[in-house]
Amino acid sequence: MKKLMLLLAVLVPVAALAAGPSAEKRAIEHGRFLINYGGCQDCHTPGWGENGGKASKDKLLTGSGMNFQGPWGTTYPPNLRLYVQKLNAKEWIANVRSLKARPLMPVWVFSYLSDRDLTDMYAYIHALGPAGEPAHAYVPPGQDAPGPYLKLIVPAAPVEKSTNN
Ligand code: HEC
Repeated sequence: MKKLMLLLAVLVPVAALAAGPSAEKRAIEHGRFLINYGGCQDCHTPGWGENGGKASKDKLLTGSGMNFQGPWGTTYPPNLRLYVQKLNAKEWIANVRSLKARPLMPVWVFSYLSDRDLTDMYAYIHALGPAGEPAHAYVPPGQDAPGPYLKLIVPAAPVEKSTNN
């Protein structure tokens, strides 16, 4: 009996290793891949670009990585870790599929992802756990907005030169 127990003690972990990471771990890993490759950290993680695409775990997706000011006003990428706390995976999918966000949020990226992809994305963000503070709220054009932000200036249309002289 002792020998059998010993054998099991050795074989069970070996079998678990052979089966690879759990489905949950694979979902989180795939979600991490989609978030990183999808550029979400570029705007939603403070210091991501400045550090060559890296950040400590406490900073990941905590919002306001890159803020923007343009003719639409000033926008601050929200803290996605706090955002997902209030949602289950189904609600996250429904939200991002119908998202109406101001520049420079590329809302169209979600149309390239399946529900499975979006579920995995959610699993990754949710697994990071809540951290950070909510990002600053949107500020309409012409009102004082706290920086830093990238300012996008749309140049005036060039004056058309007369061609009949
Ligand atoms: C170029 C910058 C940029 C990139 C890249 C980007 N976002 Fe955003 N995101 C923003 C900004 C700015 C807002 C806020 C827009 C507003 O105020 O209307 C936003 C808003 C959102 C919201 C809306 C949250 C709410 O409160 O309704 C979600 C969800 C979101 N982003 C998820 C993502 C995900 C997931 C990715 C990667 C696929 C991503 N974003 C990539 C800039 C970006």
